[in-house]
Parts: sequence; structure tokens; C-alpha cells
Amino acid sequence: TKGNTDVIRKISSHLKANPKAKVILLVGAGISTSCGIPDFRSPKTGLYHNLSKLNLPFAEAVFDIEFFEDNPKPFYLLAKELYPGNFKPSKFHYLMRLFQDEGRLQRIYTQNIDTLEREAGTKEEYVIEAHGSFASNHCIDCDKQFPMEYFKTKIESSLDINSKKFEFAKCDKCGGLVKPNIVFFGEDLPVKFFETWDNDLKWMGSAKGSDTLVIVAGTSLAVYPFASLPTEIPKKVTRSLVNLETVGDFKTNPRNSDLVYCGDIDEAATILATELGWENKLDKFIEE
Ligand code: OAD
Repeated sequence: TKGNTDVIRKISSHLKANPKAKVILLVGAGISTSCGIPDFRSPKTGLYHNLSKLNLPFAEAVFDIEFFEDNPKPFYLLAKELYPGNFKPSKFHYLMRLFQDEGRLQRIYTQNIDTLEREAGTKEEYVIEAHGSFASNHCIDCDKQFPMEYFKTKIESSLDINSKKFEFAKCDKCGGLVKPNIVFFGEDLPVKFFETWDNDLKWMGSAKGSDTLVIVAGTSLAVYPFASLPTEIPKKVTRSLVNLETVGDFKTNPRNSDLVYCGDIDEAATILATELGWENKLDKFIEE
């Protein structure tokens, strides 16, 4: 899908005209679809439309904590397919990395659990995994923490999940189910998410941070509290959206200053890198 190139030029102009301006990115599954990871809500290709084989009462049950307590199997089947390590970052992920290398990155807030931001070389201090990741696990009953391998070895085990011998990861202290620290529906987001966003909001509200550019990308803005972030951005700060469709607050409460690019994320990354003179640097990452 070809978007409006003028919008990307405006994003680039803002960054060139304000050499100290930083970028905050709010991203979702749409930045990883080109890596071969399906998003959730796109018609036909989205995960929630393709879960019928799991016999779920409703699609989002696969990430629902109450459902998981009764029946962890669908999540295991999905985790096997989506486990990080099998995918390479997209052009857009590398563009975010370039913002870091060029000293223009304030933060990335990601809803994704694929850890491709880290894979692309973005440092931990810049990335907030709002919906957690597979990097660690906890017991859903007593909250005991377990390392990554505890769950990983289960889904990698040669035993078929459908086999009677298959055992779900269980807590050695209380026998509860152990699950990755991915935020399910019915669970709280990490404290770090709220704290960092509070600080970044203060920064954007200050004189020094008022030239910040917020780029919302590859998300349907359907899941709260993440979906409310664009609403909270101070009016002085420019918001932009890079997505196949106009979503969330950009649709319901558009601002005159909003920069909305409706099109493919990697195409936007290519145009923006070219406008900023980073084309070769971006290509180098892709070639490696
Ligand atoms: P969604 O699947 O809801 O939205 C993805 C958005 O990206 C859609 O608006 C697509 O149009 C857009 N998109 C897809 N491919 C694109 C491309 N190549 N270029 C541009 N845009 C593209 O995914 P999220 O908003 O990330 O939660 O979903 C939010 C949360 O819902 C997820 O974190 C997950 C899910 O339930 C948990 O797992 C807890």
C-alpha cells in the first residue's frame, strides 16, 4: 500500500528543523508482519481470525489469564509458533535502531512480545516492553519467578503437546502453572511501563521536550491502557501515525497537527531514511 509521501517529508522536516528533537515510538504487531509474524486483528491474516483450530470460546482467550488457568494448551501451541529466535527484524525495526545511533531516540514503547527491538540492537534503556516478553516466567499462583528456559524447554520438548505424557511447566514450590511474563488480559502491565511513561510525559510537557515527535506505528490501538497513550500526549507535541489504517485517537479525536501516513511500515521506513540521509546505513543493517 502506497501512503502519502508528503507526510513522511513533514516528519523528516520536523527532525531536521529541530536537531535536538527526540522521537518516541508507540508500536504494535504491524511492525513485525513483514518478518513473518502475523498481527492480531488484520482481516484474513490476523491471528485472531486463524485460531479456529484451537477451539477457543473467543479468540482472545488464548491470552486470557482465567482461560489459561483452566486450559493452558492453546497458549502452548501458539507459543511454539511464535517463540522468539525464529525471526529477523524488519526495516522499521532497524530505523528505530538508527534513531538510537543518531542520538534521536527518547523511547520505544512496544506491545510486541517478539523482542525484535532488542534483536535489531536497540539498548534496553530505550525499550519498554509494555506487554512483557518470553524472557522470564512466573508461577500464576505464588508468583515465584523462573528463568526463560523453564518454559522454553517445555515447548521445545520432543513430546507432543497432545500426548498424555506432556506436562505443562509447573511451579516447584506450589505446583501452580508457570507462564512467561507476557501480559495476559486480566493481568497488570509492568510498573516500569507506567513509571517511564509518566517521566516521558513530563519531559514532553517541559520546554526542552516540547519539540519531541511521537510516532505511533503498526497498531490498531484497540487494547488499553496502551491505546490511551496518544490521547495523553501534550497538545504542543506533534503526533504521527504510520499504519495501514487510521486508528484510535487519530480517528476519534484528530488534531490539526497530526501527521497521518496510511501505508506500509517498511515503505515509510525507506522513505524516511532516505529523507534523513540514512539510506545507506539502513541498507547495511538489512544486508548483514
Ligand atoms: P493489531 O493486530 O490489533 O493491529 C495491527 C495494526 O497494524 C493494524 O491496524 C494493521 O492495519 C497494521 N498493520 C499490519 N501490517 C502492517 C504493515 N505492513 N504496515 C503498516 N501497518 C500494518 O496488533 P496490536 O495493535 O499490536 O496483546 O495489538 C495489541 C495487542 O492485542 C497485542 O499486544 C496483543 C493483542 O491481544 C497481548 O498479547 C497481551
